[in-house]
Amino acid sequence: MTIQTILKMGDPRLLRVAQPVTQFDTPALHQLVQDLRDTMKAANGAGIAAPQIGADWQVVIFGSNERNPRYPDRPLVPPTVLVNPVITPLGEEEESDWEGCLSVPGLRAMVPRWRRIHYRGMDEFGQIIDREAEGFHARVVQHECDHVWGKLYPMRVRDFTQFGYTDVLFPEISAAEDD
Ligand code: NI
Repeated sequence: MTIQTILKMGDPRLLRVAQPVTQFDTPALHQLVQDLRDTMKAANGAGIAAPQIGADWQVVIFGSNERNPRYPDRPLVPPTVLVNPVITPLGEEEESDWEGCLSVPGLRAMVPRWRRIHYRGMDEFGQIIDREAEGFHARVVQHECDHVWGKLYPMRVRDFTQFGYTDVLFPEISAAEDD
């Protein structure tokens, strides 16, 4: 079990376009995925991306079979490893909702995202993943894939009156669960 340090906003490694993975089912890729799992679980993340632990690869993981204490009222998203992701919006419709990020601890903002998307990529074994998603599932995928393209959610915020500290906005979510 290897819990890695999560880089915080301001670290230039979070602003890189990560490298695509070219070799699958390798010990190095499996180790990266395990480190992401351990780190996400320890931080109660809804997802995490390789750049957040300083790994310059297009690898994200998200989802869980258990409800997330940081997002207790959100639907479950299937546990997924997504490598070299490509997202295509389905339709023009956007939806705004609250987001946080393990690299931006203690803060939340309303972030507009595509409501429905098609996403594809591969898992760590090189098996194709090809799905449509909407709502919270689509939001999590867009948030995590943004990390591999060097984007953090504050760069997507349009209404800065809806950007604040989690403990002020959502006192019911304990600070211990959001840092
Ligand atoms: Ni994030």
